[in-house]
Amino acid sequence: MTDQIRFDDGAAYERYMGEWSRLAGDAFLDWLAPASGLRWLDVGCGNGAFTEMIVERCAPAAVEGIDPSEGQLAYARTRPAARVAQFRQGDAMALPFPGETFDAAVMPLVIFFVPDPARGVAEMARVVCPGGMVTAYAWDMEGGGFPYQALHDELRGLGVAVPTPPSPEASRADAMRDLWAGAGLESVETREVSVRRTFDDFDDYWATVLGGPSVGRQLAALAPDECALLKARMRERLPADGAGRITYGARANAVKGRVPNYVCINQMPPG
Ligand SMILES: C[S@@+](CC[C@H](N)C(=O)[O-])C[C@H]1O[C@@H](n2cnc3c(N)ncnc32)[C@H](O)[C@@H]1O
Repeated sequence: MTDQIRFDDGAAYERYMGEWSRLAGDAFLDWLAPASGLRWLDVGCGNGAFTEMIVERCAPAAVEGIDPSEGQLAYARTRPAARVAQFRQGDAMALPFPGETFDAAVMPLVIFFVPDPARGVAEMARVVCPGGMVTAYAWDMEGGGFPYQALHDELRGLGVAVPTPPSPEASRADAMRDLWAGAGLESVETREVSVRRTFDDFDDYWATVLGGPSVGRQLAALAPDECALLKARMRERLPADGAGRITYGARANAVKGRVPNYVCINQMPPG
């Protein structure tokens, strides 16, 4: 249930997901290769992890970030990106902007949290100008791409209820293609984005997941013997190298499409 996943601490999110977000966001932007000088909308900008990359890498003319979580937005407003980007509360399914306001809209690691993903994509298509880009990337939730999938599996094995987002199916590549085509977008393409992250050691990994918005509270509530068992299982699943570091991968699906240019069918020929 999505209401158990609480994005109310932007700093904890930064350690838990911000690092993964940047790794995936870098590969995503390489693929997108956007022009500079665009007006960007970052839908579900969270604590601004990807917004920062838009500002650093894309030389935008303007950036708006929207997210329902004030806790995330408060952190985003402390970033260097806030010199360029505006952050405000909003919902992907009812974007607080008039039509044709932006040149590019992106939903980074968000689509599976949107209860009606088709409405969210239609909203991005509405606020982007003809010829502009509508894009997203999301962990492949159903294909095991989520960075903390192994931990969730082990928790479920212990009988702990793990909260799930409302629309995990929207992160499949075929679902993304259908959503983008269904919103009338053209030149739709998808691709896989694989990334790897290194934790300093197991304690670093554990402190990171304890602060996470999805299972941090469930971990903190475990009985000491359950916690010890879970840690032992996770050490097996995430073996350390000779220096104690833990490195493992995650996988996302990315999608991009363009808003069609107008065709004026009522125009009379001259003369
Ligand atoms: C995994 S975080 C991604 C944050 C950021 N885009 C990133 O790449 O790090 C998911 C974000 O989606 C936001 N979110 C949840 N439901 C939403 C909705 N209906 N509309 C817009 N954002 C939503 C959450 O508040 C959270 O900040």
